[in-house]
Amino acid sequence: MSADTRTFPESFLFGAATAAFQIEGAAFDDGRRASIWDAFSRVPGAVIHGDNGDVACDHYNLYRDDVALMKRMGLQTYRFSTSWSRVRPDGGPLNPKGVDFYSRLVDELLDADILPWLTLYHWDLPQALQDKGGWTVRETSDLFTEYALDLHDALGDRVKVWTTLNEPWCSSFLSYTAGIHAPGHYSKTEGLLAAHHLLLGHGQTVRELRARDESLNLGITLNLTVPDPADPSDSRDVDAARRIDGQFNRWFLDPIFLAAYPADTVEDIREVDAEAVEALEAAIRPGDLETIAQPLDSLGVNYYHGELVSGTVPQHPLESGDAPTDRPGGSPYPAGDGIHSVDRGLRQTNMNWEVQPEGLTRVLRRVWDEYAAPVGTALYVTENGASYDDELVVEDGDKRVHDAERVDFLREHLGAILDAADAGVDVRGYFYWSFLDNFEWAWGYEKRFGIVRVDYDTQERTVKDSGREYARIIGARALDL
Ligand code: NOJ
Repeated sequence: MSADTRTFPESFLFGAATAAFQIEGAAFDDGRRASIWDAFSRVPGAVIHGDNGDVACDHYNLYRDDVALMKRMGLQTYRFSTSWSRVRPDGGPLNPKGVDFYSRLVDELLDADILPWLTLYHWDLPQALQDKGGWTVRETSDLFTEYALDLHDALGDRVKVWTTLNEPWCSSFLSYTAGIHAPGHYSKTEGLLAAHHLLLGHGQTVRELRARDESLNLGITLNLTVPDPADPSDSRDVDAARRIDGQFNRWFLDPIFLAAYPADTVEDIREVDAEAVEALEAAIRPGDLETIAQPLDSLGVNYYHGELVSGTVPQHPLESGDAPTDRPGGSPYPAGDGIHSVDRGLRQTNMNWEVQPEGLTRVLRRVWDEYAAPVGTALYVTENGASYDDELVVEDGDKRVHDAERVDFLREHLGAILDAADAGVDVRGYFYWSFLDNFEWAWGYEKRFGIVRVDYDTQERTVKDSGREYARIIGARALDL
């Protein structure tokens, strides 16, 4: 290796990620029933162009070809999610045909020598359970654990890595408080209750799976950010950064690793909505926080961008950037009033997210030092990626996508991971989001994150330059500079 090459540790895993609702399609085939996203995408104005997940990337039918493509690209692991609405339609009894799809997918992956990395909940709650209160009611946590155990009965002999939840911040605050994601509610109380019951479902499930099989690798995936104060010498900006950190990062990290909600953030929220905090306190039963704080083998970190925040500069209000339609998007931060996001002139993706690779190094170092290292939980970057305005071109009869910005994004973030590893962080893998262009929630099919392009008319897949570059890096297990 030449001096200007950085190599990855031998055991480092290279993968890519997707989620059931975003790629599978076949929304009502083989006994699957509606999820909250099937329902929400039919609410006028909820999803751009009225897009829905009925067909998506038709992965349900094309999974063999997709796995073959992963193999050709050299992916070592594939992070996918299972659809609760397929496995236990309406949250009720097991649907053998639904389970069979995942069983066939897992076999296909294992045949291709690709490690299956299974996520149990990537936001697609059965609508029938939402009709009974969804994540705001405790029963949903118990049903989640039942669903997980059913799936483990079917796949546990072959799937060894289990992630309970993907980004519970989104499936609570963005969904029940900001109204931007399904079920599209606007309630601080509901957001707090949903977050608690999601965490409870996580903890119960880890405890039960662990009791069945000690050799499983169990974890959760959180979306984390790096909030920096616009003016570090201004206490109002420093406080804004603390408040965002509390409501975004620590609201989940603290209960999972320290068995407590962050006291300062509880008080921040109480100041603006005492009733919401009282409702949360009434919902927390003795023992809940101990249940939530199960020892974990892995923590998945999803990182897209950081945030420069201010408590004074009246720029644009801090929002998630995820409200593309006319439907009003509220703030996902229960105590976020008066906090603004400040533009620092960095490059941006077409989601208007800043490209800030050093933020990934910082997030990994922080989470490792403060939470994971003391209890020996390994870190994985379970998502990181970028959407750009890709263009398909035909050259000598070959279809190509020259997505140079995504190539840079990928390389820079892999470099940031190596920087974290150099600083002593135990980071063991990287999953690019996403393997395929797919249904980007409220943005429908308008935003493309894939390293593989999907033509939604023909379902043709085209490996983009970023996919080629990723394959090259995986082949070399190194980043040339
Ligand atoms: C995080 C989510 O887990 C995923 O579903 C989404 O598509 C990406 N971020 C990009 O927004």
